Amino acid sequence: MSINSENMKSTDSKISNIAIHGAMKFDFHPGKLKKYYEKWSNTYDSDVKNQGYRGPETLVEFLFRPKLQTTLACELTDPNTSLMDAGCGTGLVGKAFLAKSGRKIFGSDLSHEMAGVARQTGAYLKVDENVDLHEKNDIYTDNQFDVVTCCGTFTGGHVKPAAMSELIRLTRPGGILAISVRKSYYDAHDFGDHYLQHIESGDFELVDSIVCGPYLKEEDAHYFAFRVISGMVQ
Ligand SMILES: C[S@@+](CC[C@H](N)C(=O)[O-])C[C@H]1O[C@@H](n2cnc3c(N)ncnc32)[C@H](O)[C@@H]1O
Repeated sequence: MSINSENMKSTDSKISNIAIHGAMKFDFHPGKLKKYYEKWSNTYDSDVKNQGYRGPETLVEFLFRPKLQTTLACELTDPNTSLMDAGCGTGLVGKAFLAKSGRKIFGSDLSHEMAGVARQTGAYLKVDENVDLHEKNDIYTDNQFDVVTCCGTFTGGHVKPAAMSELIRLTRPGGILAISVRKSYYDAHDFGDHYLQHIESGDFELVDSIVCGPYLKEEDAHYFAFRVISGMVQ
């Protein structure tokens, strides 16, 4: 059988779909995820592109909505506004943010290899590795950042909803925490209950959301922006 370009495309599509689903099987185990991303870092960008991944662009556009700008009371384009992209992976959020604002941001990730690719993008001021969002990471002080983003990481088998505590700790009171949550993950882990508990505890308030926004060809995600109140300390 001759290999024509349509056959090639459908093979690429199958492989990239398998790669995305493969990453979701590790039951929140950081060591296994690190090993998987060590191998996947080289082809992550092309695989997620192949599957129509639009999380980073959607989250960055979301950040620039007037409602969030007013809430934040400082300009995202101001060099004094500090932004941490937690679980930055290969740096797609940083690239989208740089394209939109001309500004570089901070990044962190669990994986050495993914962080390495993110550094090469030139979209980050600094990228830290071995940052596990299930723990308190002492390299960061409480309330350190004006804005914290986390895109594509609240997804099957990656970070537990409890990781929100560390993201809240990193965000200053009055600052914004903006995340994507894959729809099937939201449903499977009662994510709504988790964030309502944070609201009831006075940790943050919901400022804006996108319900079923663009994410992957196969599935949408919800996007949330919270205004941190307490800057909860773990
Ligand atoms: C699907 S990728 C998303 C990367 C990027 N934010 C994006 O939107 O393309 C998920 C990332 O989460 C990271 N990750 C997995 N578990 C983590 C944890 N416990 N703490 C921090 N990062 C984690 C992985 O290393 C990977 O880079």
